[in-house]
Amino acid sequence: MTSTRKSDQKIHSPVFLADIGQLLTLRSLLGKPGPRRGPDLKNLGIIENAAVLCLAGKIVSVGTTKDALRDPWLKKNRKKVIEIDCAGKVVVPGFVDSHTHPVFVSPRLVDFEKRIEGASYEEIAKAGGGIRSSVEGVRKTGKRVLADKVLTALCEMAACGTTTMEAKSGYGLTVESELKSLEAIREAASRWPGTVVATLLGAHVVPKEFQGRSQNYVETVCIEMIPQAARRKLAQFVDVFCDKGAFTAAETEQIFAAAQEYGLGVRAHMCQLSETILRPFFRFNPASFDHMDHVNDDDILHLSKHDTIATLVPGANYFLGMKDYPQARKLIDAGVPVALATDYNPGTSPTLSMPMAMSLVCTQMKMSPAEAITSSTINGAWALRVANSKGSIEPGKDADLAVFAVEDYREIPYWFGANRCAVTIANGTVTHSG
Ligand code: NIG
Ligand code: FE
Repeated sequence: MTSTRKSDQKIHSPVFLADIGQLLTLRSLLGKPGPRRGPDLKNLGIIENAAVLCLAGKIVSVGTTKDALRDPWLKKNRKKVIEIDCAGKVVVPGFVDSHTHPVFVSPRLVDFEKRIEGASYEEIAKAGGGIRSSVEGVRKTGKRVLADKVLTALCEMAACGTTTMEAKSGYGLTVESELKSLEAIREAASRWPGTVVATLLGAHVVPKEFQGRSQNYVETVCIEMIPQAARRKLAQFVDVFCDKGAFTAAETEQIFAAAQEYGLGVRAHMCQLSETILRPFFRFNPASFDHMDHVNDDDILHLSKHDTIATLVPGANYFLGMKDYPQARKLIDAGVPVALATDYNPGTSPTLSMPMAMSLVCTQMKMSPAEAITSSTINGAWALRVANSKGSIEPGKDADLAVFAVEDYREIPYWFGANRCAVTIANGTVTHSG
């Protein structure tokens, strides 16, 4: 298991959150196991005038403040407890950001300007920009510096309410640099109270030195990167950018097969720039297909019958200045389980903010605020296969919570570009208090 929980070693003070105006529990729905779909995306399990008690990094009780104050244990131990008076604010499960690329060195400002002047994503890539232009920086930077960069991102994410995040490698593209990137993720995770799930994205793009020999590079991914990452428990998932200009469907299957052989889960960047037929991939039981701008109707039907999550990353469409966004309504109405993520990366989505991603799916993709919250919490947890411990506020789950300085949860996506997150608690540790 790659998810890193250094706070396991810490002794947690009990934490008591009281006088919560709206507590969005996202509690399990009776008789409905699995990720949320269709109308269930709107069921937030709200408790008003609520309280939550956390002990040893876990949630132990959830209910009204009135009932919590009658708890004999709390009455006896009140002095030992860190008490957070929420004064009518909104509390949500800590966000699960299930798709990020935090291991890079510099922002891509030249690409930013070129795109403003009209160049497309593919034109920029062909001119030497894009993913490949972040590779040199990662290759020549030491693990410690990369880890510091990742940690900075983790802390900023926590300040916006994220307590669990997926972190991909993918800008090293050599065995050594991909493993170094995963080590940097592990090191940063060990210094952050939240939970990090690591993903090997060696198949992000074919590196320059393998130009015209993509099969050789795929073999490097399958024969060297995946076995080493698995053996050293550096990654829990393997991701592939399956699209024109990156890897073909056949190459993706080859990489998925290698991941499966070494016991790693699979996920993929799919249908971002062009349509790929998804049906052949279901035999690998992918955790998620991400982007999904060009998915076909037959595959939508398949997705509605599987637990593979369609992860929406609207930050990429926004930052690339696209007028079209993935068809969230069509996916949701067909019963596809959707999650929402930032896709934090230097090329297409330099945002760390889940509330910003939520605002985008509401305004550009016509998802309701409730659907945006569910996609950012319990369904994100499903996308990372951590739904047994993350994504909802229920006794027994990890104490991951975010307090927002608003009176109504719909304000979280409403106040776009502003950070209303007042307190973040990750695995029972107060990690941000602004
Ligand atoms: O999710 N599509 C591939 N990967 C990233 C882009 C990474 C980059 O441009 O650096 C994405 O959008
Ligand atoms: Fe991505």
